[in-house]
Amino acid sequence: MYKILPCALLLAAGLMAGTTVSAQTAMQPAGSNAGGDAYPTAPRDPSLKPVFEQFGGKPGLVALMNDFMDNLMADPVTRPFFQNADREHIKVELVDQFCVILDGPCSYTGKDMASVHRGMNVDRADFNALVEDLQKAMSKHDIPFRAQNKLLAKLAPMNRQIITKP
Ligand code: HEM
Repeated sequence: MYKILPCALLLAAGLMAGTTVSAQTAMQPAGSNAGGDAYPTAPRDPSLKPVFEQFGGKPGLVALMNDFMDNLMADPVTRPFFQNADREHIKVELVDQFCVILDGPCSYTGKDMASVHRGMNVDRADFNALVEDLQKAMSKHDIPFRAQNKLLAKLAPMNRQIITKP
């Protein structure tokens, strides 16, 4: 009896230590590295955030649109379309439109894509140039590639309303 007791105590202590460790492990937030990071609760994988947040929310979209429009104006293919347009207004509409597309808390009250682009004679090369200018802006803003692709996948089918020149 006296010989067994210390062993039983050691075993119990070992089990409790084991329980404590696994309880700590179970309480770690997903993606954290307990004790290893300055901000241990920050998710490691940015793709775990909703796509709208990966774009920086509405302020992120506003900043993105400024660079996107700068790129459109620096691009000889797209510049002729935008140089006489109300670019500030277009940016405002694009922010709302992209916000809706990314499931953000916005509503788009601008014109529909077919009527706004009617008569512009946009062809496939013009459309692709605009998409490239958008990609450049998104990369400059460090938007994760998966999030970029989610937006582009939703914009791509709009070509049917926008491209009117074969
Ligand atoms: C997926 C691609 C595109 C999207 C999502 C898009 C979206 C928009 C939006 C939201 C507006 C503002 C609508 C409003 O004022 O109510 C707009 C206007 C405009 N877009 Fe696009 N657009 C696309 C492609 C293009 C392309 C390829 C061109 C030409 C290269 C173009 C040229 C213009 C111009 C010039 C305006 C201003 C029209 C005006 O002020 O009357 N867009 N676009």
